[in-house]
Amino acid sequence: MTLRDATPDDLGAIMAIERAAFPTDAWSDDMMRDELASPHGRYLVDEEGGRIVGYAGLRHLRGGADADVQTIALSSEARGSGRGRALLAALIREADARRAREVFLEVRDDNAVAQALYASEGFAEIGRRPHYYQPDDVDAIIMRLDVPSWRAAHETGASA
Ligand SMILES: CC(C)(COP(=O)(O)OP(=O)(O)OC[C@H]1O[C@@H](n2cnc3c(N)ncnc32)[C@H](O)[C@@H]1OP(=O)(O)O)[C@@H](O)C(=O)NCCC(=O)NCCS
Repeated sequence: MTLRDATPDDLGAIMAIERAAFPTDAWSDDMMRDELASPHGRYLVDEEGGRIVGYAGLRHLRGGADADVQTIALSSEARGSGRGRALLAALIREADARRAREVFLEVRDDNAVAQALYASEGFAEIGRRPHYYQPDDVDAIIMRLDVPSWRAAHETGASA
């Protein structure tokens, strides 16, 4: 697996994964293009043999104490082998490098796989947005990670 910064040229490959991963609430091309071009964060892609198999994005305003995981997704055949965890860890390291102390994210209540990943990295539920995801009428769970705790856990080699 090779992680690198996303470029505007990656839009098509990213959107193919996005639409397959989020069939009812995918972002539009324009939204994703704006995200990739935004100075307020960092987007990474995961390449395998020159093909993009995943992507993830962090939003962080310079000087801010908090950051947000905007999105993270892998093509279906690339899931379940640690790539999601590696992408997430790269975003958290980026947040840490920018001196953010907290990372927030929203996850669908019916997405047990993603929730398990986030919980195992130390994210904890801090709230809910009822009926947030439409048209599926699914709640959003808001999760928060304490970045210094995550760093300490990873420095000692302990699991978060
Ligand atoms: C969520 C997603 C990014 C996770 O990436 P992944 O590469 O599949 O996950 P990993 O192999 O890194 O596994 C990380 C953890 O996720 C959980 N997980 C992964 N696959 C799982 C499965 N099939 N069932 C249950 N838990 C699973 C486990 O907690 C796993 O840790 P473990 O391997 O120590 O048990 C990926 O599955 C995906 O792209 N899903 C579709 C898009 C999506 O839901 N994005 C998140 C939106 S909030």
